Amino acid sequence: MWRIQVIHGPNLNLVGQRDPQVYGRLTLIEIDARLQAYAIEAGVELRTFQSNHEGAIIDAVQQAAGWADGLVINPGAYTHYSYAIRDAIASVNLPTVEVHLSNIYAREPFRHSSVITPVCIGQVTGFGWQSYRLGLEALIGWLETHITPTSNAAHNGD
Ligand code: DQA
Repeated sequence: MWRIQVIHGPNLNLVGQRDPQVYGRLTLIEIDARLQAYAIEAGVELRTFQSNHEGAIIDAVQQAAGWADGLVINPGAYTHYSYAIRDAIASVNLPTVEVHLSNIYAREPFRHSSVITPVCIGQVTGFGWQSYRLGLEALIGWLETHITPTSNAAHNGD
């Protein structure tokens, strides 16, 4: 069973009330519940984590390396400038998908660049909560084609 860590960055604890026309009306708890439902359907184990703090996000990336096979991350505004989160992802060597609720390329110019994407398998942006679901689906597909069950078992120690 694949193990996947989802990380939500700063201000994502406010979705549902924060700019609902941009980020949608679902709360983070509702998004996580939908992702857990999808994970059960897909037969993967999912853990979710949110923090408003860069260091806590870096700790979560590093800790994920101890159990997860891959990461789905929405780094929030850190997307656009956190070399520290980028380095953490590059250091742990876990296949990572970057996701965004909004289409960052259709918004203010400062949101058009991501320092995170170059260390990810890819990016899903603009589909609301479904960006996470699509990101999970893409990650599972990637794991199935790139990681053999043997190396997966070895990685997880089971
Ligand atoms: C976001 C896009 C970022 O530019 C913004 O700072 C966020 C949310 C998104 O999910 O659309 O906090 O990552």
